[in-house]
Amino acid sequence: MEKINAVITGIGGYVPDYVLNNQELSRMVDTNDEWIMTRVGIKERRILTEEGIGTSYMARKAAKQLLKKTGVDPDTIDAIIVATSTADYKFPSTASIVLGKLGLKNAFAFDMWSACCGFIYTLDTAASMIQSGRYKKIIVIGADKMSSVVDYTDRSTCALFGDGAAAVLVEGTTEDVGLKDSYFRSDGHGLPFLHLKAGGSVCPASHFTVDHRLHYLYQEGRTVFRYAVTSMSNDCALIAERNGLNKDNIRFVVPHQANIRIIEAVAKRLELPMEQVMVNIEHFGNTSAATIPLALWENESKLKKGDNLIFTAFGAGFVHGASYYKWGYDGSTVEQG
Ligand code: ACO
Repeated sequence: MEKINAVITGIGGYVPDYVLNNQELSRMVDTNDEWIMTRVGIKERRILTEEGIGTSYMARKAAKQLLKKTGVDPDTIDAIIVATSTADYKFPSTASIVLGKLGLKNAFAFDMWSACCGFIYTLDTAASMIQSGRYKKIIVIGADKMSSVVDYTDRSTCALFGDGAAAVLVEGTTEDVGLKDSYFRSDGHGLPFLHLKAGGSVCPASHFTVDHRLHYLYQEGRTVFRYAVTSMSNDCALIAERNGLNKDNIRFVVPHQANIRIIEAVAKRLELPMEQVMVNIEHFGNTSAATIPLALWENESKLKKGDNLIFTAFGAGFVHGASYYKWGYDGSTVEQG
């Protein structure tokens, strides 16, 4: 039997209309455009401001665009997996809500919770499911409403994050394209440096947790920065070396977008010019599980069949890793939905 490879056959994306720029942020906390641009590289981020809607709203919008662009019959979708850290509810899963809204009849749904590595871990999982031969079409979505866990009185974190979602369709092929290799590791020592203290089973919501602002993301930025640079650079170097990839045959590195200085350090380690690195941090900020698929969505028209890509991410946990991916279609021929 021929080997089945798992390949992305389409992308949809969604970002909210509201733009929160550095000028507006500097009226909310003691910060300024120059500090944010030089230390982080973010000019503006999108925020889902409407009350009563959450991550599933953006995930559904992205998936709807994906269905329209690919023309795939929704009844042939086997599974939908949402990578997120900002689920609509503790339960049910965000993926089950998206599935219901899309009216998928023959699919099952679950969430993957791996912070900023959510998309690359989920893509790898979906690829294994496809390669097993048991599933034919899986929708993978990276979606986060980071504004729901950001403290807009804390200048050290509120400039960093934004909201967004992007969805890809993963299918089987016997062509030599798709997900080729992954190197993933998690270092459980990351908990003290990046977490959200309350609302989980250790510290359920109470008047105390609300009064002490414990429902917001907490980060020791410098430590996280150091780990992120080392991990993403090493992971990319390893995946490049074991697959014979270098600056001459890598078309793009698609890194998680947490800080432009982290992205530049990864590019430097691979000796890649920044033209070969996808960057969307300036206008979207860190959308956690959505950064990598959003970058693919925005740059779809530049991608050609056979292009070698490296995806890499780092996030709370500490989770990290890199994947080698060979792009499967000419993006310039796709009609944008
Ligand atoms: N505006 C102005 N000054 C600020 C701001 C701001 N928005 N934020 C912090 N500062 C100040 C600090 O108070 C500090 O002042 P001090 O020296 O008087 O105490 C000074 O700037 C330096 O602060 P640092 O925290 O050392 O700044 P750093 O250069 O490390 O940048 C940042 C902070 C942007 C958070 C950086 O450390 C970073 O990007 N870390 C990694 C983020 C990341 O990768 N996260 C992982 C993914 S997220 C996830 O998984 C959900």
